[in-house]
Amino acid sequence: MNRPHEDGARGWPPPLEALCVALDTPDLEGARRLVAVLAPRVGWFKVGLTLFARHGRDAVEVVRSSGRSLFLDLKCHDIPEQIAGAVASARDLGARLVTVHAAGGRAMLQAAVASRGPGMRIVAVTVLTSLDGPGFARVWPGEDPGSVVARWTDLAVEAGADGVVLSPREVAAARGRVPPGFFLVVPGLRGPGDDAGDQARTGTPAQAYADGADLLVLGRSVTRAGDPVAALERVLEGS
Ligand code: C5P
Repeated sequence: MNRPHEDGARGWPPPLEALCVALDTPDLEGARRLVAVLAPRVGWFKVGLTLFARHGRDAVEVVRSSGRSLFLDLKCHDIPEQIAGAVASARDLGARLVTVHAAGGRAMLQAAVASRGPGMRIVAVTVLTSLDGPGFARVWPGEDPGSVVARWTDLAVEAGADGVVLSPREVAAARGRVPPGFFLVVPGLRGPGDDAGDQARTGTPAQAYADGADLLVLGRSVTRAGDPVAALERVLEGS
């Protein structure tokens, strides 16, 4: 895949492997319906805490049977020994991408990396895309999201992680400070006029991709639309 830091430009729409839909529903049948209609149009599906806590392996199977790649968004944050075990379990479930929190520190990230299987990526969650303003200041007084994301991105690189999760606002800066091939996963994507919901640091998919995102995570603006296929088509038109 071409990256802007390599050739100065990338076309839109992006290839399938740069597109992920988040199956954030407690309803396994609902997840199955989304996968059935969206599988021809995206390379990845994300199983997160809502679906996984209720349906575990069955949720994983819905994605695996579609032939698309499984992003298991466990957002692990625990002592290194536990994280090593969690990543090994995710590996055995066939996950190709697993999230751990950068806030867990270097040893925790290294434990995750050491447990991953071939073809699997460990990405470190930096500052949640739902945090900004007073909510952010309560956790990191006197700082700004861009600086914390930069610091944690450096930590993830040092620990040997394969990438980070960050908001659309920090993609361009991160792309400029990470080694080639470091995987930038970007949620918090909204088109003009989309409801932001609980997200705070949002941006458009087309801009995030132009800035150097490797994987665009599309959630409610597609999955909660009356017609998810039409909503995805709108995204791909760049609106
Ligand atoms: O529905 P929406 O587009 O806001 O979904 C965003 C998805 O990205 C959710 O599945 C959420 O878990 C995930 N995510 C996020 N912020 C992060 C990491 C993951 O919103 N920092």
